Amino acid sequence: MESISVGILGLGTVGSGVVKVIENHQDKLFHQIGCPVEIKKALVKEVNKTRDVEVDLSLLTQNPNDVLLDPEIDIVVEVMGSVEETRGYLVQALEQKKHVVTANKDLMAVHGPELLSIAEKNQCDLFYEASVAGGIPILRGLKDGLASDRITKIMGIVNGTTNFILTKMSKEGRSYDDVLSEAQQLGFAEADPTADVGGLDSARKMAILSTLGFSMNIDLDDVQVEGITEVTEEDLQYAEQFGYTMKLIGNAHRQGTKVEVNVEPTLLVNTHPLSSVDDEYNAVYVYGEAVGETMFYGPGAGSLPTATAVVSDMVGVMRNMRLGVNGNSSVIPEFPKQLKGKEE
Ligand code: NDP
Ligand code: HSE
Repeated sequence: MESISVGILGLGTVGSGVVKVIENHQDKLFHQIGCPVEIKKALVKEVNKTRDVEVDLSLLTQNPNDVLLDPEIDIVVEVMGSVEETRGYLVQALEQKKHVVTANKDLMAVHGPELLSIAEKNQCDLFYEASVAGGIPILRGLKDGLASDRITKIMGIVNGTTNFILTKMSKEGRSYDDVLSEAQQLGFAEADPTADVGGLDSARKMAILSTLGFSMNIDLDDVQVEGITEVTEEDLQYAEQFGYTMKLIGNAHRQGTKVEVNVEPTLLVNTHPLSSVDDEYNAVYVYGEAVGETMFYGPGAGSLPTATAVVSDMVGVMRNMRLGVNGNSSVIPEFPKQLKGKEE
């Protein structure tokens, strides 16, 4: 291969990071895949906007077909967000035999199995590591690293914005609104932060993690959700007084043939390993019958950490292209759907 051409949908917080990682790590990428990576087009809403990264204006387009129908583009990187419109774009990309890398948990939590099946039919890769826990390679950890084990519990802090808010409120005495606004400026929060603070973003990530970890198709509707909007400064002060820390915890465990998943503000005793995960950092605890306890920790949001996961997925696609094995490794087998309320 002379070079790999990439089309990007979205050039905001994560998209700008992707451009920077590709530009700054060309040597490393060349060693990994044996040819240069070129960004050919980027879809945006507004062309003449100041961006966090310098790009040639000729690279930008408002027409999705400039990315989706360009026969020279091998990989489509989706970092624009939203669900239905984006689903349409990704179906189109896969049907054009383009490999897809996405950071979009809103989309993958709802349409993941359908998109993975379309990818398989078209012998394309569809990777989505950045959709859960930003820079932490947790999906690879579950899919590959722990592939041989039977997972019985997954517990984690999987939303950077709410962890940032709870940390700053309890350790610096700052107000909820003040810290949320900083999380938005730093690019951790979603364009509309309702899903972050309401717990839905964590629920989506827990649905994706549980589906992979428990080899069972977990519906977002099956996840019970409570966010942090009702947590007060007094709650946090009381918790601290009695040696506890409040965190928004996603909890999933297997009981017989059933998996229960919920997200809620939880008091953790200060000796608990998740109690010291602060700011926008995430951590996921995974218990496997053979391996025992494991813990994955790192930055859960933000431009460069998330971009690292996106570009690493691109490396995975490119390695598969060299070996001619695309479409085999990204597929979740047809997992059975959880039967609500049925016990073993
Ligand atoms: P931003 O809002 O910063 O960027 C979105 C980009 O997509 C912008 O460049 C915007 O164009 C473009 N865009 C949005 N809608 C359209 C549209 N309809 N047509 C054309 N272009 C469009 O989002 P983020 O970078 O923060 O997030 C992107 C994705 O990554 C989301 O799915 C998010 O959930 C996910 N994610 C984000 C993380 C983070 O830390 N921010 C971490 C992990 C995942 P323009 O610039 O012109 O407005
Ligand atoms: N808004 C998300 C968060 C971005 O705060 O965790 C990373 O998925």
